[in-house]
Amino acid sequence: MLPFVGRRAELEAVKRYNAGQMLMPLFVFGPEGCGKSRLFREAVRRFREWYPDGEALLIDATVDDVDRVFAASSDDARREAVEELVGALSQFAGAGPLSAPLGKLAARLYARLAKRVYGRARRALIVVDEFVGAFGVADVDRVTKGMYHVTDVSLREGDRDRIVNFFVLTSEGESRRRLARHSYVWQAYVWNLPRGDFEELYYRVRELRPGPAPPFDEVWRLYGGNPRALEELAALGWDTGTHRRRLAMHRNMGATADLLGKRRLASLALRVVEDVDYLHSGEEAELLDLANILVRANLVAELPRGIELGTAVGSPFDPPPADRELGIGERYAWQIPIYRELLREALEGS
Ligand SMILES: Nc1ncnc2c1ncn2[C@@H]1O[C@H](COP(=O)(O)OP(=O)(O)OP(=O)(O)O)[C@@H](O)[C@H]1O
Ligand SMILES: [Mg+2]
Repeated sequence: MLPFVGRRAELEAVKRYNAGQMLMPLFVFGPEGCGKSRLFREAVRRFREWYPDGEALLIDATVDDVDRVFAASSDDARREAVEELVGALSQFAGAGPLSAPLGKLAARLYARLAKRVYGRARRALIVVDEFVGAFGVADVDRVTKGMYHVTDVSLREGDRDRIVNFFVLTSEGESRRRLARHSYVWQAYVWNLPRGDFEELYYRVRELRPGPAPPFDEVWRLYGGNPRALEELAALGWDTGTHRRRLAMHRNMGATADLLGKRRLASLALRVVEDVDYLHSGEEAELLDLANILVRANLVAELPRGIELGTAVGSPFDPPPADRELGIGERYAWQIPIYRELLREALEGS
């Protein structure tokens, strides 16, 4: 694994939010590969230092094996406390309907741990990763509401001995949209790394994978701070051509270009490649269609800047600042700058 860089402000904020009971679960959205899982793995790892009375779990929701669910926090000495914590959670869950899918996961855990009583852990941070992958977009609201019930019971009972905060991670723009309609979840953004931190990572990766690499400026222009893209490029021997072809294939650029062509949206899409804010330049139905397709394809993200419900948590979890060069606009952003070029090539080739 790469050495961890940056994210100081984010870690500080996670710590701050866990000082007390949060009002509702925090739903963290960000481009694929920007480092959400890694950031929260770090937070979970540090949690005990921040809060000696606390336990933090990172649950990969696509995995239903208890041993792996607790992977991020399970050195042996802590395991028992973690299990007690899950037992305690089952009591919260009894107070409100945990929605079916999370309920199913929880039930499996509870069945094994039901006899445990509330233990040493007083403060719990539960990070549910791969949320949409496990539950699907359609169930996002119900599952999140289940978490809200857990939070709400804790608040209503005013029981300061039980702090349970949920963070949910996803890169699915579609799920973000669904949740924006509700008042029981906060939304937050983790974006790609800022330039300085990404540059540090670039030089670290070069040490690990020596060889002729493109200069940092070019890497920044293409990947705009996305650590997974950088890792992939390095693994491919720093060959940007190969990486381009692979990205185009894996991100289904051809299929998206075909769809846009069939809907007669190709020329509008080319304008959005030039300027992502063109997507909200007018009320034309075509632009809304186009935005839907690009958001669903996870190429473009919507940036709710303080106008939709749920962005109340504030910096450093605000949407990223506009940056035309990287394709980050006022209301929309390309998840990774290179997607613009890949989509353009696919549109021109189809
Ligand atoms: N701050 C960081 N320092 C060093 N490496 C990082 C950092 N953030 C992410 N990485 C590395 O980049 C890769 C992608 O990160 P990660 O898996 O956390 O992204 P993600 O946002 O969770 O992606 P996805 O949306 O696909 O779940 C991982 O190999 C991770 O270790
Ligand atoms: Mg992840």
